[in-house]
Order: sequence, then structure tokens, then C-alpha cells
Amino acid sequence: MSHDSRPSPAGTRTAAVIPAAGRGVRLGPGAPKALRALNGTPMLIHAVRAMAASRSVSLVVVVAPPDGASEVKALLDSHALPERTDFAVVPGGETRQESVRLGLEALPPGIDIVLVHDAARPLVPVDTVDAVIEAVRDGAPAVVPALPLADTVKQVEPAAAPGAPEPVVATPERARLRAVQTPQGFDRDTLVRAHETVTGEVTDDASMVEQLGLQVVVVPGHEEAFKVTRPLDLVLAEAVLARRRLTDGF
Ligand code: CTP
Ligand code: MG
Repeated sequence: MSHDSRPSPAGTRTAAVIPAAGRGVRLGPGAPKALRALNGTPMLIHAVRAMAASRSVSLVVVVAPPDGASEVKALLDSHALPERTDFAVVPGGETRQESVRLGLEALPPGIDIVLVHDAARPLVPVDTVDAVIEAVRDGAPAVVPALPLADTVKQVEPAAAPGAPEPVVATPERARLRAVQTPQGFDRDTLVRAHETVTGEVTDDASMVEQLGLQVVVVPGHEEAFKVTRPLDLVLAEAVLARRRLTDGF
């Protein structure tokens, strides 16, 4: 393993911000989602390793649960991580958006590309990470990995009472829809400006850049970059890890 921290070939420096401050309500009771184990290793550590696996990523900023920053620091210290990568931990906020902003504020000068990656997507392959960085280097202000949908999607008028029938309003053409993953990649100044300018709830960072009127582009995502959201996703994630262990010896 090399120990240098030279700028990447194109002369850019890339950091990854990992929002990991969520509770994981949909996963059910227990520790904060990012700290739950997958095959014995906290999900967050898998996600940190996935970012640090890219030779372009020189810094990983973990946004910890507000009261869990020291626990997360201890976790990073007690797990093997690449020596060529720097790590930092900051406490997060009430919303994902606020957590990402707190992560951005912790970035040192000299970083010009930022990835934002959910701790809840612990298994994203390094090729996907590198493809996102590459597209930002090629000039896109915002890049999102995404996949075509398997299911048809209906737009509805949400029912007031849970479980009540909901009128269908429209059926968008499935071939034109994409399910968006992370890491999303950004020109740093653009993402900072988006966080300073855009108010109101969003569910991904790229949509804030869209609201600035800038072009966001999609690159191919990966099945294994799925988000661990519900209990069944834990089963799938452990199955993916078991298959990797068989095929790659990891
Ligand atoms: N996140 C965060 N700060 C918050 C809320 C979410 O950093 N205040 C992070 C989560 O830790 C996760 C990512 O944003 O890595 C994506 O969010 P999601 O999958 O919704 O995770 P949770 O909010 O933890 O889960 P839930 O919505 O089921 O509570
Ligand atoms: Mg959430």
C-alpha cells in the first residue's frame, strides 16, 4: 500500500463526506443504523472503506450521530483503514441535509471535488465511486449514480389515513426514470453554494444543485450500492458480503 498523498492525476483533490447521523427508524429499534454490524463490522466502517478504496479520495469526513462523535472516532481508530487517506469526524444534525452541511464545513482548503455518500450504502463498489469522480473531473458540477427501475411507478394523491385507497394521478414513463444512489459527486464550490442558497427539504444533494439551475448528470449506478433501509436489506447486505468473501477472498 502506498503512503503518499499526492494530488490525483488530474490535479484535483477529492474528499468524501459520509452522513451517518441518522437513527434508522425504518430498520427498527437498536443502535443508530450506521453503527449496526454487517457480518461483525459496523455498516459505517464498510462505507468508509468503500470511499477510501478509491485512490482519488484523500480525506473522508464522517458525520456522526450528534451524541456519538467520540464513539465513531474510537471505531475508526480500532479498524484497519488505508494509511494514504485522512479521516475526520464531526457531529451531525437533525436532518440529512443539515448533517451534510456540517460535513462540508469541516473540509479543509485545497479540496475541489466532494462526494456525499450515505453510510447506509455500505457496499458500493469502488468502480462506481471512481466513475462519479471521473465525471466531475470531466466538468459536470453534479453527478449521481443511478439505475433503471424494475417497478412501474405511480404518482398518487396520498391518502389522509394510512392504508386507505389512494387515487392515481399519473404513470411516468418508466424508461425515463432512474433510481438515484450515492456517492453523488460535486464541484465543491457548487455544492457549498447549493447548501447556502437552497432552503426547504430535499432527499438528495443533487436536487439542490438542480434548484440552482445547473445541469446534473447521471452515470450508471450499481446493484450493490443499494441503501440499507429496512430489516430485509440487512439480510441482502450480509449475503453480498458472503458472496464477496467466496469470490474475492475478502
Ligand atoms: N442521516 C444523517 N443525519 C440525519 C439523518 C440521516 O446523517 N439527521 C444519514 C443517515 O445516517 C444515512 C443517510 O443520511 O446514512 C441516508 O438516510 P436514511 O437512509 O434515511 O437513514 P436514517 O435517516 O438513519 O433512516 P430512517 O429514515 O429510517 O430513520
Ligand atoms: Mg432518513
